[in-house]
Amino acid sequence: MLNTQTKQREDASAVVSREEMMRQWEMAGQNRQLLIHRMGHPPRAWVKTFGCQGNVADSEKIMGMLIDMGCEPALDEKQADIILYNTCAIRENAQVRLLSMVGELKRLKQANPNMIIGLCGCMMQQEAVVRQIRNSFPFVELIFGTHVLHRLPQLLNRLLCGEHRVVDCFEGEGRANPIAEHLPIRRTDGVQASLQIMYGCDNFCSYCIVPYVRGREVSREPDQILREAKEILAMGYKEILLLGQNVNSYGKGLAEPINFTELLRRIEALDGDFRIRFMTSHPKDCTRELIDLIAQSKKICHNIHLPVQSGSDRVLGQMNRRYTREHYLSLISYAKEKMPDVTFTTDIIVGFPGETYEDFLQTLSLCQEVRYQCMFTFIYSPRPGTRAASMPDPVPYKEKTKRLNELIAAQHQISEEDNRAREGCIERVLVEKPSEHHEGWMSGRCENGMIVTFPAEKVQPGDFVQVRITRGLRSEYEGELVK
Ligand code: SAH
Ligand code: SF4
Ligand code: F3S
Repeated sequence: MLNTQTKQREDASAVVSREEMMRQWEMAGQNRQLLIHRMGHPPRAWVKTFGCQGNVADSEKIMGMLIDMGCEPALDEKQADIILYNTCAIRENAQVRLLSMVGELKRLKQANPNMIIGLCGCMMQQEAVVRQIRNSFPFVELIFGTHVLHRLPQLLNRLLCGEHRVVDCFEGEGRANPIAEHLPIRRTDGVQASLQIMYGCDNFCSYCIVPYVRGREVSREPDQILREAKEILAMGYKEILLLGQNVNSYGKGLAEPINFTELLRRIEALDGDFRIRFMTSHPKDCTRELIDLIAQSKKICHNIHLPVQSGSDRVLGQMNRRYTREHYLSLISYAKEKMPDVTFTTDIIVGFPGETYEDFLQTLSLCQEVRYQCMFTFIYSPRPGTRAASMPDPVPYKEKTKRLNELIAAQHQISEEDNRAREGCIERVLVEKPSEHHEGWMSGRCENGMIVTFPAEKVQPGDFVQVRITRGLRSEYEGELVK
């Protein structure tokens, strides 16, 4: 086994130093007293998350740090003493919605002047947005970007020691956000735990804001990832979701030569009956070696999220995706050949600047060829500062909506047909929780990612059971336990 303790990363600044982490722990200790003093009772914290799984995982760390500072999770926003919104900048409407929600927090602050309201996450990496928040929402006292998540104790400390407002945004533009190891994590309940294997993105797809708000791509050390995976399994989780904007390029910049396939092999070798999922795979970096590993694996789910974005080579070029329709389809057919049971999900952007109806038809035909299990569809939203935002975009929004609806209708038909075709099949299911719709039923997830609900007694969340599919609906199955 390689000794990573003695090795240096190529970019040492990518990791938060031990001294810096010690300083934060010290601040967290001080804050415990200061918070009780300010609130008059153990403080209750509410963290609301917008955006992707990466943000969800960051929020688990924020909550972990707040609990470390003596907070209890609040049952709802109204009774919270600390409210933090972890924001997303991916599309404009998310931004508009967020700002109106922040406006509403004013009333809560008036009712409880001791309350601390903060904003963090991707939107807080955009200068214009931060300016607007500073001007319009004086009751927002804490604003910080994605690069200083680990510094929450110190930022909060400054506020508790009397500063009016603490803002820490956009340090290190064009750099990697530093990796902070050993942060406390308050994981969400359930059977699945997220594990971030890398941060940031280097791909600069022309429509996308992520590289600007999350900085350069940087991978965690494999030993740190394995340590966390072991912790997750020891806590009783049965599914590990590996996270990164482009997991297929894992390993860049690490001293030890390692790629995503090798990392998966090491996680898979850990003891226990558990599942591994990952997102997101970028088609340009998805290798046949990776597909071979998934095909052989008993733990890695045969269900791959492989966002295509568009089926037209012209649009893919403009998007800077760096693969062709043919390459994408060749990956899909290779995977189907190796794993007859494989399912795919995808993301599609409709109405990219200059997308013609013919381009759109290419996307539609690609979807019909792949037959996705489900797709996440978005109408293109211009993001200031990205390359696509300055491309001519003559297609009216109404036409884009029409295309979107056409695509969704086609997908519904595919899902209904394919789900019905599974009726009678037996699936291995990880039980998640009681069904919300049927008394006495449980719901769980098949390896292919589909939710299945079934009547069940004496079955616990976290159990693996065999379920026969009795009904394939559009977005889930119904089934019965196989004894
Ligand atoms: N790293 C992932 C995607 C992260 S963002 C990948 O490369 O696939 C999630 C999805 O949001 C993207 O796949 C894309 O479909 C969508 N998206 C990103 N920017 C967008 C924009 N400006 N307008 C509309 N959808 C967008
Ligand atoms: Fe955005 Fe492209 Fe990076 Fe995904 S790979 S986060 S779409 S820039
Ligand atoms: Fe949104 Fe940031 Fe994720 S912009 S999609 S929360 S990386």
